[in-house]
Amino acid sequence: MKHLIAPSVLSADFANLQRDIEMINSSEADWFHVDVMDGVFVPNISFGFPVMEAIKKYAAKPLDVHLMIVNPDQYIERFAAAGASIITVHYEACTHLHRTVQAIHAAGCKTGVAINPHTPVGLLKDILTDLDLVLVMSVNPGFGGQKFIPNTINKVKELRNMASQINPRLVIEVDGGVGLHNLTELVQAGANVLVAGNAVFADESPIQMISALKELDTT
Ligand code: DX5
Ligand code: ZN
Repeated sequence: MKHLIAPSVLSADFANLQRDIEMINSSEADWFHVDVMDGVFVPNISFGFPVMEAIKKYAAKPLDVHLMIVNPDQYIERFAAAGASIITVHYEACTHLHRTVQAIHAAGCKTGVAINPHTPVGLLKDILTDLDLVLVMSVNPGFGGQKFIPNTINKVKELRNMASQINPRLVIEVDGGVGLHNLTELVQAGANVLVAGNAVFADESPIQMISALKELDTT
């Protein structure tokens, strides 16, 4: 499967959100990556339902919702109703992860679990068959524009290896500091979806950068 590109709306110009959403619509991007931060799980606050509903109104591609919040269970149905196609919760934020994952499925969404840079992929072994996607954080969550943590490559390889036995259709997404410099290595390690915030929106031509990321030869 050709890798997918998910531009992170966090790096968009919020005063020109409709313009930036339409740019992504007309680009080769595959998903909208929507980062929700609560100021508790991560040391930053991004946006909530009103902004997500505004994104949904114009977005012509699936919303890939990354919840960096404590107690995500209480908001799963509202995120589904607000238009999420994929809901990803953090391993570190869920005491009863299996229950949370079942709630996401019951709400009609694809299920993702994210792991922070310090969290070993092996901890996902007993939940892996229940997941559509694992998001491997390649920076500490909270901010766009951070530097990629190189050990992520090893984690993606280990996860792909583990998934090949247990859940071969697992989608592996990598989030943080991804760009032209590391995308090929990540895809070769087993990643399928690459989030890109700063790499896209700090470029003078975001639409061309999305094409460049999408068309990179990873064979
Ligand atoms: C970080 C977010 C990321 C971020 C990626 O907490 O989860 O999705 O927006 O941005 P870049 O690509 O700039 O690292
Ligand atoms: Zn994210």
